[in-house]
Amino acid sequence: LDNGLVKTPPMGWMTWERYRCNIDCKNDPDNCISENLIKAMADKMANGGWRELGYVYLSIDDCWAKKQRDSNGKLEPDPDRFPSGIKALADYVHSRGLKLGIYSDMGNYTCGGYPGTTLDTIKIDADTFASWEVDMLKFDGCYSNDTEKAIGYPKMSSALNATGRPILYSCSWPAYEGGLPPKVNYTLLGSICNMWRNYDDIQDSWASVVKIIQWFAANQDALQPVAGPGHWNDPDMLITGDYGLSYEQSKAQLAIWAIMAAPLIMSNDLRTISEEAKDLLQNRLLIYINQDSLGIQGRQVMKVGCLSVWKRQLVNDQYAVAVLNTGDDGLPRPFSTSLGLLNITEYSAGYKLYDVFNTEYVGLFKPISPINLKINPSGVVMLFIQPATVAPHRSYF
Ligand code: DGJ
Repeated sequence: LDNGLVKTPPMGWMTWERYRCNIDCKNDPDNCISENLIKAMADKMANGGWRELGYVYLSIDDCWAKKQRDSNGKLEPDPDRFPSGIKALADYVHSRGLKLGIYSDMGNYTCGGYPGTTLDTIKIDADTFASWEVDMLKFDGCYSNDTEKAIGYPKMSSALNATGRPILYSCSWPAYEGGLPPKVNYTLLGSICNMWRNYDDIQDSWASVVKIIQWFAANQDALQPVAGPGHWNDPDMLITGDYGLSYEQSKAQLAIWAIMAAPLIMSNDLRTISEEAKDLLQNRLLIYINQDSLGIQGRQVMKVGCLSVWKRQLVNDQYAVAVLNTGDDGLPRPFSTSLGLLNITEYSAGYKLYDVFNTEYVGLFKPISPINLKINPSGVVMLFIQPATVAPHRSYF
């Protein structure tokens, strides 16, 4: 969508994966969907080094609304959990240099059973969100049929545009239509949405991460070409810092998301996140790769058993390569390759290799020099590859 937003994949934080539809503020005041939760995360994003790295979208997912619209037909937030209202919350978030995201659903209800946006209420809802000075809308797709979706998603895009406020528009439409052409029209989506969910929700497990990665790999011929500046595929939230992934598995999710030019939207608890998890999410070179200005989504270029090789072309003839091991036998697996085998051969003088997670310079490699790696079980090695002749234009580590 050509609204000037997200020339590189959006980065931020969202409630859903970690906090779900927890509305029990009486017994769980720190973790229920409420203005307090959003304010707490806003403070952390502003003071914990996140904002400066690009994590600026702070998004409320489902279960924020009051069960009924007001007498003018407008959506309202739940008065107990958002007593100050969304406009005041947006002011709070903006005062910390961040952007506020909100959620609605093209349908009679949201997936969680709150009022949805029907074809009749698209305009009033878009205007309401703009009047609250919201910066992003995730538009889900429960409780509507194919026809309503086909009318509703473009209509909401126009309605947001008509407000005059730039609002990042995230469409869940493809995920409800199987995610693939010809049923899903990615040319249309690219012109009406800034990003879209293609596939199933992420859950807090390695199995879920692997399932998503494998689906995107299997369908990359259809999906990889449709991403680009202003319009991204969204394999769903980052779960680093939650309960389900080991340290190695967290690296693996991050590496593949960076190669896929995916939005980096965390869903975790920034108040209690471990230093280890924070360091991974704040890895500057990883973020540099994800945010590459060419905006070309990477691809799985090789698969041998449980090892797969992923490659993304970056600006200035640079590359990122990730070797993923989805195997679970405890031995780190050796993998030998070369830049020649990876088809990175333009510079005969060779390339400088950096290990993204070890944050170290590995050395200068010619196209024929062997590169010998060891990939931990359910883990990854990620390399940043730079022509030898190009001086690094900033420090990554
Ligand atoms: C389904 C979406 O895919 C999730 O990301 C989340 O928004 C839930 N609905 C909310 O009900």
